[in-house]
Amino acid sequence: MHSKKYFIANWKMNGEPKDLGRIYKIEKFLKISKKKFNLNCIFCLPFTLLGLINKKKISVIKIGSQDISASSIDFGSFTGSVSAKMVQQLGCRYTIIGHSEIRNKGEKDKDINKKIGFASSKNLKAILCVGETLNEFKNKKSFKKVKSQIYSALKDNRKNLGSIVIAYEPIWSIGTGIIPKKVYLDNFFKKIKNFIRKDFKKNIPILYGGSVSSKNISSLKNIDCCDGFLIGGASLKAQNFIDIIKKYYI
Ligand code: PGA
Repeated sequence: MHSKKYFIANWKMNGEPKDLGRIYKIEKFLKISKKKFNLNCIFCLPFTLLGLINKKKISVIKIGSQDISASSIDFGSFTGSVSAKMVQQLGCRYTIIGHSEIRNKGEKDKDINKKIGFASSKNLKAILCVGETLNEFKNKKSFKKVKSQIYSALKDNRKNLGSIVIAYEPIWSIGTGIIPKKVYLDNFFKKIKNFIRKDFKKNIPILYGGSVSSKNISSLKNIDCCDGFLIGGASLKAQNFIDIIKKYYI
């Protein structure tokens, strides 16, 4: 466990201005803790909160958006959309791309491919989410699905590979409390890493996401080749998030 691990919070459609205090509390914990955590800690917030965070109060924690527009890199007549340039101007260093909750609303692989290019041009690191449905899992189609999602997202972005992090999130595990077995994850992570190394000649960080909590982190931390976690529900309470980090580094 020597490389820098990722602990990425995805607040989804949650959080009011007053809740930003939770992030300052976590920042304080990371700063004053005697243990030196070797981590990348990123909070992906709703657009409404991105401009409200007090940048003076965070230095360890970085901020990200949960999506960017595929319509234009900067500005245009796209009602309701927010561009890579706009979130970059608000201080974002990261953006989630291709979360299953957005793919579900009709986002296509080609949009995801385009968004990764836009993110890179604005110096935003892309947190590319991939994962299979329960049906695909049951029919042993998980790897085929994830491989094709990664391939179509990355194929035109070979020059941007240094600014990509992949989060493997089995859709059936998101928000359900159900976690795949360790042997399955060990094997799966190894297969994804090998595929990327072979096809893209790069060691891209791969994270696990789906029902990560302070209760299961002690077993999840042992997944071979796993570079960190994308955390939804358990990132909403400061103490839960702090407990995850503490238990990871015990
Ligand atoms: P969860 O969400 O931790 O609440 O399962 C993870 C995600 O959707 O990124």
